[in-house]
Amino acid sequence: MMTKEDFLKDSRVTVVDHPMVQHKLSILRDKNTPSKQFRELVRELAMFEGYEATADLPLEPIEIETPLQKMTAYQIGGKKLAIVPILRAGLGMVDGVLDLIPAARVGHLGMYRNEETHQPVPYYAKMPEDIAHRVVLVVDPMLATGGSAVMALQYLRQQGVTGTIKLMFLVAAPQGLEAVLECDEDIQVYTCSIDDGLNEAAYILPGLGDAGDRIFGTK
Ligand code: PRP
Ligand code: URA
Repeated sequence: MMTKEDFLKDSRVTVVDHPMVQHKLSILRDKNTPSKQFRELVRELAMFEGYEATADLPLEPIEIETPLQKMTAYQIGGKKLAIVPILRAGLGMVDGVLDLIPAARVGHLGMYRNEETHQPVPYYAKMPEDIAHRVVLVVDPMLATGGSAVMALQYLRQQGVTGTIKLMFLVAAPQGLEAVLECDEDIQVYTCSIDDGLNEAAYILPGLGDAGDRIFGTK
């Protein structure tokens, strides 16, 4: 299995290690953090991570006029963006990324893990009509075995998405990272942590528990 050091050498992997992010992630992991605060933290962390994930967007010049004079300023150019949350837990990250990119479209991918096989079971997909022409940001707090993210990547390529797909997680297991990096050459992965591994139920260790249940208070 690849080690943390191997991942850090891969230019496709970014660990967002800003102190504010690491501080908020610790509160998120704490089992005593209630759902309301958990949801707020997922949203905030998604915004901070989205800042990193959009750092390479191209700029184009635009002529504007300040109160004093005309100038050439810059605006985001290139392809438009789409945010694609993997339901349910990915929904918790959407508003944080939309805070940064209000004009982005949102496509939804519904899948849950079979509790015995840990394989993802797809149940819903609704993308913006022009998804093939957009830069796609996949969002999901958890990358465990990688099964769900791999299925999401395969689905998006089938929909005609070309170019670099960006995947944003809050916590990633080495097994999941290895799976997505092997599945698709043209991706960029962002995570706030590379954790130690998985338990027998394929939950991330030390992780933060079941992200969907903690966001929506279902357990
Ligand atoms: C969680 C999580 C990911 C997936 C990660 O979703 O939000 O989508 O598991 O696991 P994997 O990398 O092994 O595929 P879950 O299936 O629990 O569904 P939920 O968000 O609806 O609770
Ligand atoms: N899904 C979660 O919500 N948490 C894990 O640790 C693994 C998968």
